[in-house]
Amino acid sequence: MIGVYLSGTGNTKHCIEKFVSLIDPTASIISVEDKDVVSKIRENDEIVIAYPTQFSNMPYMVRDFINKNGNIWAGKKVLCMTTMALFSGDGTGCCARVLKKHGAKIIGGMQIIMPDSIGDNKLLKKPIETSKQMVKNADIRIEEIAKQIKETKIYPQEGLSFWAHLAGLFGQRLWFYNKTTGYCDKVKISDACIGCGLCVRSCPMNNLAINDGKATASDKCAMCYRCLNICPKQAITILGKQVYEQCRYEKYKD
Ligand SMILES: Cc1cc2nc3c(=O)[nH]c(=O)nc-3n(C[C@H](O)[C@H](O)[C@H](O)COP(=O)(O)O)c2cc1C
Repeated sequence: MIGVYLSGTGNTKHCIEKFVSLIDPTASIISVEDKDVVSKIRENDEIVIAYPTQFSNMPYMVRDFINKNGNIWAGKKVLCMTTMALFSGDGTGCCARVLKKHGAKIIGGMQIIMPDSIGDNKLLKKPIETSKQMVKNADIRIEEIAKQIKETKIYPQEGLSFWAHLAGLFGQRLWFYNKTTGYCDKVKISDACIGCGLCVRSCPMNNLAINDGKATASDKCAMCYRCLNICPKQAITILGKQVYEQCRYEKYKD
């Protein structure tokens, strides 16, 4: 088994790492950004693939990764995992449907609630104690699911049903369609930028660069929110106009 993931602020990385280690202590996890990820997938028959839900969809970067490497999935047994702040509908189903087209066999789906990562929108922001409790609850759920799988070999099917598909489609995807069907060109960098380059080094898409001592953004943002959440000057916004909270998994774990 191997865990393959995209994670912006660390929530998804934490969840897949915990889950995979409980199911198979010898298994490892690898980011879709890693140069060895394709060969690691080829070497393993069982894959857990995880990503943050974006508007009840999978990040375009993950979709792109799966499709670009379409010939590696045939016959693989895949469990799709998504983390979400509140509601995902068929966040796992979106990935499952694409993988099935490439010949993968979907064995399960897990949708785990974690703190919100959208630092420039206050809609889903919670007090830090609440976010810490969300992480604890997620850990308990992951432990329970892993135990169930080990004891019964029955995998959860969260987000994979027809009803979940309708919930994701009508609950969010139809309204936010244009946000997830390509990369985002909405990254804004204010004059507060000091050109430290942290954002450039963190970007999974090489979408940021330093020009004349300031960060500049291109139009290939994966909306992972890593840059916004680590900028020491809070100079970056993506979907909103102001940074309300810089979110990171490490802030919420005890
Ligand atoms: C662009 C964007 C869209 C999101 N859309 C949703 C959503 O539709 N439903 C939801 O519950 N959470 C949504 N979230 C929250 C993230 O899915 C959630 O915080 C996730 O755990 C972040 O994982 P990460 O730390 O691995 O990036 C969204 C986050 C971002 C950045």
